[in-house]
Amino acid sequence: MKLLVFLFLITLFISCTTSASTNKHPLDPLTPFEFKLVRATVQKTYKASSPTLTFQYIGLDEPDKALVLSWESSNAKTKAAKVPLRRALVIARFRKQSLEISVDLSKGSIVSTKLYTGQGFPMITFDEQDAVTELPFKYKPFVESVQKRNLNISDVVCSTSSVGWYGEIKSKRTLKLQCFYTKGSSNLFARPLEGITVVADLDERKIVEYFDNFNIPVPKAEDTEYVATKQKPPFGPTLMGAAFMQPNGPGFKIDGHSIRL
Ligand SMILES: *[C@@H]1O[C@H](CO)[C@@H](O)[C@H](O)[C@H]1NC(C)=O
Repeated sequence: MKLLVFLFLITLFISCTTSASTNKHPLDPLTPFEFKLVRATVQKTYKASSPTLTFQYIGLDEPDKALVLSWESSNAKTKAAKVPLRRALVIARFRKQSLEISVDLSKGSIVSTKLYTGQGFPMITFDEQDAVTELPFKYKPFVESVQKRNLNISDVVCSTSSVGWYGEIKSKRTLKLQCFYTKGSSNLFARPLEGITVVADLDERKIVEYFDNFNIPVPKAEDTEYVATKQKPPFGPTLMGAAFMQPNGPGFKIDGHSIRL
């Protein structure tokens, strides 16, 4: 069930250097060491961890452009200019509030914390989605709705979608759960459990709205399969190999996180 969450998100993979060695450029992304330092620093300061404290975003708190430009020009001469002070920007939820925290990466300490009280919410994390997609299976009305449809709950999975925004000034941090039947086909999106509305609160980690309004049959599994290995021609996996040639090498150079023509 958990994996389903991943299908709905475009995951941004940030490539990181693997050691805590000196950073080459002031705009280099955080290293794994720095990510861990940020997590430890914030958890220690707030004496909390998930689900009381969750990390919605951790990234480089970019130094001012003037500092970067002055580093560039002195580095061009010395080849080893000292990078400006590195900081991380953290967006976290702590006790159902949104915080913007700046962490000094040389000292492992918090520089500033701002409570965000404006509209909107920070990004949703995989952990939060995993937690709420498990909720219907412990929620009696949902279990009954599945039974009423003569479906085996072991073959049901739920995923998250937005509840939408309709101009509310204040709203709760909620997600809609859509559930599907997986038996007989990998193409579960062709087999939704219609008529059921589940709304879960991400901060409370509980179901806050539930309706089972109508019961229409789940579409059949036949002819919905899309997994390549299960296809027969003309849809089968008959692709031929292809080659990409660069006889004079690539037209760019990669140095750390910098790309040059
Ligand atoms: C439901 O599915 C599970 C897992 O596939 C299976 O062990 C169980 O026997 C099924 N129950 C019914 C009532 O078919």
